[in-house]
Amino acid sequence: MAKIKITGIKGMNDMLPEEAGIWEKFEDTARCVAASYGYRQIRTPILEATGLFARGVGEATDIVEKEMYSFTDSMNGEQLTLRPECTSAVCRCAIEHNITYNAPQRLWYFGPMFRHERPQRGRYRQFYQFGCEALGFGGPDVDIELLSLTARLWKNLGIKASLQLNSLGATEERARHREALVAYLKDNYDVLDEDARRRLETNPLRILDTKNPDMQAMVEAAPRLLDFLGEDSRRFLGSLEAGVQALGIDYTINPRLVRGLDYYNHTVFEWVTDQLGSQGTICGGGRYDPLIEMLGGRATPAAGFAIGAERVIELVRAAGGDKPVAACDIYVAHQGGHTELVARQIGEQLRDAGHRVIVHAGSTSFKSSMKRADQSLAQWAVICGENEVNAGQVAIKRLRDAQGNQQFAEQMTIALESLSEIFGAAKEPDFS
Ligand code: HAM
Repeated sequence: MAKIKITGIKGMNDMLPEEAGIWEKFEDTARCVAASYGYRQIRTPILEATGLFARGVGEATDIVEKEMYSFTDSMNGEQLTLRPECTSAVCRCAIEHNITYNAPQRLWYFGPMFRHERPQRGRYRQFYQFGCEALGFGGPDVDIELLSLTARLWKNLGIKASLQLNSLGATEERARHREALVAYLKDNYDVLDEDARRRLETNPLRILDTKNPDMQAMVEAAPRLLDFLGEDSRRFLGSLEAGVQALGIDYTINPRLVRGLDYYNHTVFEWVTDQLGSQGTICGGGRYDPLIEMLGGRATPAAGFAIGAERVIELVRAAGGDKPVAACDIYVAHQGGHTELVARQIGEQLRDAGHRVIVHAGSTSFKSSMKRADQSLAQWAVICGENEVNAGQVAIKRLRDAQGNQQFAEQMTIALESLSEIFGAAKEPDFS
C-alpha cells in the first residue's frame, strides 16, 4: 500500500515541546497580570452560531465576508462557525447567563481563534489570543485600566511596543462623518482601487485603513472622524488621554485607526511594533458599548482588547526571553531490576517534597540514562547503581546550577535514608 503522508493544515501551527517554555511564560505572565487587576477567567466554546459573528463583528467586515470557517451541522442543519474572535462570544455568554445583572465583570480568556486569511509571518489561520473584557463599565476609567494592564504585561515580558489611540465617537457622530467621507471618496473615485470601490457603500471607514501606496495622499486628506466629535466624545477622549499620561504611558493619536470590527465606539487602540514586518499589531481593542444590546442583551457598556500570542511570543524571543526550560529538577537513573523499583520509590519521595522528577525509562545502560539526564536539563541526577543500592546507598551528581549552566562536579555517594533530608521541601538540596 502506498504510504500517505498526512501533514498539518496550512496556517495552523504545532507547538513543539521546545517551545512550551516560552508559551507558558507568556500565558502565566498574562494570567498573573490580569489577575493583579482583578480579572477572572471565562471560557466559551470554540464553535458558535454563525449569526453571532455576522451580527456582532459586522456583515461588511473582512472577517465575516471572507475569513470565517463556517459550515452546516450535518445532524441538524445549524449554521456554525469556528470563532474568529472571542469578544462576541463573551458577550453572548454574559447575556445568556445574565452575569452582569448584579455587578460589572472583569474577564479574561486565552484560546485559539480561526480566520481563513492568507498565511504569512505573524498571520495564521489558527492563532491564539489572550483577551480581557470589562463588561458593565461606562469608562473612560476602565479604558485607562485596560491600557495600563497591557503596558504592565509588556514590561513583565521584557518587550517594547507603541500605543496608538483614536476615538470613533458616538453613533450619530460616525454617521455624520460617514456621509462626509462617502461624498469625499466619491469625488476621488478615480483614485480608489477595486477593494475601496467595493467598500464605498458597505464600510467606507475601512478604506482609511488601506495599505495601497497610490491611495495614501487621498486618504491622508480625507475628512477626519476626530473633527466630527461632539463635546461629550471629546471630553471622553480628553479624560482617557489625561489618565494614560498620568500613568506615564506614551501614546500617539492616530486619526486613521479604525479597527477591523464593527462594534466599536469612542476608544479604539492598538499596540504596534516595527519588529514583526507587516503584521506589527500585537494587541487591538477598544470600547464597544453597542454590542451587548445588538446581541439581544440589556444595554451594557463595555471595553476590552485581545493580544495575538504568536506575535508577542516572537517579540519575547527576539528580546532573549526564550531560555530552555528543564523537563525536570532531578533525573533518577538506575540499572533495571530491583534498582528500578528503588528508583521509582525515590521518584515518589522526591515528588512528595515538591520536586519535578523523571525516573529513567527504556534502556538500562548508565551511558544512555546519563545522556537522557543531561538532555532533560535537570540540575541533579540521582544514580541507583547495583552496588550502591545493595549497600543502602545512592550516588548524586550535580549536572547544572540553578541558572541552567552545566556543572562538572564529582558524584557523591550518600545513604538512601538521607536523600529526603538532602532534597527537602526546598528546590536546592541542603547538605548542612
Ligand atoms: P483583532 O484586532 O481582530 O481584534 O485581533 C486582535 C489581535 O489578534 C491582533 O492585534 C493580532 O495581534 C492578533 N491576530 C489577529 N488576526 C491574527 C492572525 N490571523 N494571525 C495571528 N494573529 C492574529 C479582536 O479580535 C477583538 N476581539 C479585540 C477586542 C477585544 N476588542 C474588544 N475586546
